[in-house]
Amino acid sequence: MDTTSSQPTRVVSGMRPTGKLHLGHYHGVLKNWVDMQLNYECFFFIADWHALTTNYADTSMIPESIENMLIDWLAAGISPSSATLFVQSMVPEHAELHLLLSMITPLGWLERVPTFKDQQEKLKEKDLATYGFLGYPLLQSADILLYKAGLVPVGEDQVAHVELTREVARRFNHIYGREPDFEERAEQAIKKMGKKNARMYRNYRKRYQEKGDTEALSIAKAMLDAQQNISVGDRERLFGYLEGSGVIILPEPQAKLTKASKMPGTDGQKMSKSYNNTISLTEDAESIELKIRKMPTDTNRKRLSDPGNPDKCPVWKLHEIYSDDNIKQWVIEGCRHASIGCLDCKQPIISAIQKELAPIRERANDYKADRHQLKNILQDGSEAAREIARETLDDVVEAMRFAYQT
Ligand code: TRP
Ligand code: SF4
Repeated sequence: MDTTSSQPTRVVSGMRPTGKLHLGHYHGVLKNWVDMQLNYECFFFIADWHALTTNYADTSMIPESIENMLIDWLAAGISPSSATLFVQSMVPEHAELHLLLSMITPLGWLERVPTFKDQQEKLKEKDLATYGFLGYPLLQSADILLYKAGLVPVGEDQVAHVELTREVARRFNHIYGREPDFEERAEQAIKKMGKKNARMYRNYRKRYQEKGDTEALSIAKAMLDAQQNISVGDRERLFGYLEGSGVIILPEPQAKLTKASKMPGTDGQKMSKSYNNTISLTEDAESIELKIRKMPTDTNRKRLSDPGNPDKCPVWKLHEIYSDDNIKQWVIEGCRHASIGCLDCKQPIISAIQKELAPIRERANDYKADRHQLKNILQDGSEAAREIARETLDDVVEAMRFAYQT
């Protein structure tokens, strides 16, 4: 969207607390979060309720996993002074919004989300025929909409969930975003911007509504953001009036696709806990060395004198991530002419991973020794998140005219 907006884009993303994070998470997700926290207002949370949807019977590991996940995040460079870090279940508003959204969400929308059937088939040994599991993506929608997020960094498999979120937001706005005298109020709000701005606004609105000119829409939105002489309510109305719908209570978020991590596991397949081929973020130095030394190589290189082909070797994929051009050249020549051994070839990788993980491991150890600090970070983060969440829920309840308790 526009960059002139006076409101910084909010970013929301979450992770289920399912055991230790590994290099795949680091290169795929965490580095991305570390960058984003400097440029956006970020909310990163531990989705403990989501962990229940696939594992409700055994909850024993969840508290410990929450803490371990936070340690890994912090050690990887995510900072509570740059991002709001919290636990989903410590912000009960997630459950409240989920419930309200569940009332307006057609069953078919949830049944059609691809992960619903996929996961049921993949995880046959688990009981995924529950109400909670069907609602998994809708709980995720509540996570996102509660903060009126503009961007949601997710992997490919989660894009459908963000799409559902957009549809649910649209439906909510459509059902509840209509004030009885909406058009009149919007027209009055236009006048409050002054003659020149009013003319520009009408012009852009017309271009968008009659010709579908989305650039005009962005410009008009930027213009509204920059208006200082109108109230929050009027601004929302004018946003809604631009698109013709009504007041926008829950803005539609956009997925920001996280590039799939190319990190291979120690057997050459994708690094993943279920393949048992991971190097954890806090793996000790000896174990890193051992795992890389044992990594399979091009199967045609049985002896040192057999030439090999890096394209057929999982170790090469690691060179693509960790090595500079000089080293890569050395590998290609050495492998093809059988002038280096596979252990020689692995050495720069071992050093690079050691170098990458040593400071992370050290920071993790510091955090491990200070549980009190970890608790505080999550406590403070959850409180800060709650404040914003409550504001959204107040808007939601008001729009639904469901505010009996006032
Ligand atoms: N479903 C996500 C996953 O498995 C985790 C998640 C829960 C999430 N709520 C979210 C991600 C909200 C982004 C936004 O990876
Ligand atoms: Fe793989 Fe390197 Fe051995 Fe070639 S020399 S097979 S690239 S480990």
